[in-house]
Amino acid sequence: MARGLKKDLTSYGDPGFSLFLRRAFIKAMGFSDDALERPIVGITDTYSDYNPCHGNVPDLIEALKRGVLLAGALPMVFPTISIHESFAHPTSMFLRNLLAMETEEMIRAQPMDAVVLIGGCDKTLPAQIMAAASVDLPAILLPVGPMVTGHHRGEVLGACTDCRRLWGKHRAGQMDEAELEQVNARLVPSVGTCAVMGTASTMACLTEAMGLSLPLTAAVPATHAERRRLAEATGRRAAALAVAGGPRPSQILGPGALHNAAAVLHAIGGSTNGLIHLAAIAGRLGRPLDYQAFDDLGRRVPVLVNLKPSGQHYMQHFHDAGGVPRLLRELADLLVTDAPTVAGGTIADAIAAAEEVPGQDVIRPRASPISAEGALAVLRGNLAPLGAVIKQSAATARLMQHTGRAVVFEDVEDMGRRIDDPALDVGPDDVLVLRNTGPRGAPGMPEAGYLPIPRKLLQQGVKDMVRISDARMSGTAFGTIVLHVAPESAVGGPLALVRNGDPIRLDVPGRRIDLVVPEAELAARAAAAPARPPPLPARGYARLFQEHVTQADRGCDFDFLV
Ligand code: FES
Repeated sequence: MARGLKKDLTSYGDPGFSLFLRRAFIKAMGFSDDALERPIVGITDTYSDYNPCHGNVPDLIEALKRGVLLAGALPMVFPTISIHESFAHPTSMFLRNLLAMETEEMIRAQPMDAVVLIGGCDKTLPAQIMAAASVDLPAILLPVGPMVTGHHRGEVLGACTDCRRLWGKHRAGQMDEAELEQVNARLVPSVGTCAVMGTASTMACLTEAMGLSLPLTAAVPATHAERRRLAEATGRRAAALAVAGGPRPSQILGPGALHNAAAVLHAIGGSTNGLIHLAAIAGRLGRPLDYQAFDDLGRRVPVLVNLKPSGQHYMQHFHDAGGVPRLLRELADLLVTDAPTVAGGTIADAIAAAEEVPGQDVIRPRASPISAEGALAVLRGNLAPLGAVIKQSAATARLMQHTGRAVVFEDVEDMGRRIDDPALDVGPDDVLVLRNTGPRGAPGMPEAGYLPIPRKLLQQGVKDMVRISDARMSGTAFGTIVLHVAPESAVGGPLALVRNGDPIRLDVPGRRIDLVVPEAELAARAAAAPARPPPLPARGYARLFQEHVTQADRGCDFDFLV
């Protein structure tokens, strides 16, 4: 089999000429014949001025290249798109599949024997894992690492749970503009991904738990020297994968890896987005995610990681406490410990090397968890026939079984117009409903599921209400919030049938979400108002997205990529 520069030649009808031409061009970059004979490690460059979370990528690439060269292979850096949460319009989720497709195709198109994928900001790691799973070339992930924490008036801060909390304080009239501006400059004190257990941290932990990255790479802060050393080690390991021709993602991502990822998702108080991405990755592997098994696992796996939004601390503290390997040790009897990893051994090896940190309170022992059950609960009912999810670890205990009157918003714009209207008929026990925010409805399933508490209730001291939508929410957010209702309202899901004043019953222990309206009445409403998906865009990626995106329960991947 062809290796290195001889792989995947450009088609001119004459392979000898193709290689001759390729060598002629690459020599323009100053490469020697010796360098060009080596196995090649491709390295994705996801740096962008629009992506501050990836601000350390140039440093990581330098360290990665050093590692690859020290191990005798040739590093070749190539760009891919880079998606940042707050710079992607209409929402980063709309672009995840584009990054997955682009990464997959550029790995296929260019000669390389292994690839290092540098990701971090929410949608990047899942897109890269989806790509790696589809290409099945030896691959190793390198997360950029979390940002460090900031401080404000003696309080520790970090994006983005505190962004939401302090914005809420401002909306409630408890923080003036001057202090808000001060806080704005302190919430994101360095490059790196969000400091709490948001989607980026969740996916970095899942990546490590699946064995796709080296131990400790999920939590070492982005700015620390240790991360550069891990990058160098990743480069060395990638060179070994290139020489050996494996293990490949298909050898790493067996049922054990997905089980371990699911257990860790529960135990870290992980992001609801993690579940969508896990479903998309499972789809790429041809093994649709088993939601019942995921939920059953959540009854046995407690939340052990004491990080915001479920707990108190930040990612750098998780690292100081031993990071993912130490957590895996705590969960060992619930894991598939003989699952292989890109490091060359198994999860059991990572557990054996885990560090004990005396006195730490970030990774709790099983005997004193943050919550007895896992982070996420999968709900079903007449409002969500294909399922919905709630992050029970970041919800309010007294609302876990609750019946309230629906207050319905047609879409994000409607919500923006009316949520703070003093005339809005809403009380603290009502259930806020937002529809037309699913994968096709919005489109792209924005993180609008964290419906703000109406200002007049905020001013009365209301901190949480039951909220339901077919949208997503940031992993950094908190509240009694039901998300990912499937099928979405825009394709005829029952969320479209809810009317103001209808009783909605949430029963998290019973895993139910129901509209308490007679079935005959719902059938009459459905007949009177058939689904109205948004018009198809005339062209381009937006059209491809609308025509092929799957529902949340299938990970919102494109149907032709699964
Ligand atoms: Fe990039 Fe939060 S905005 S990880």
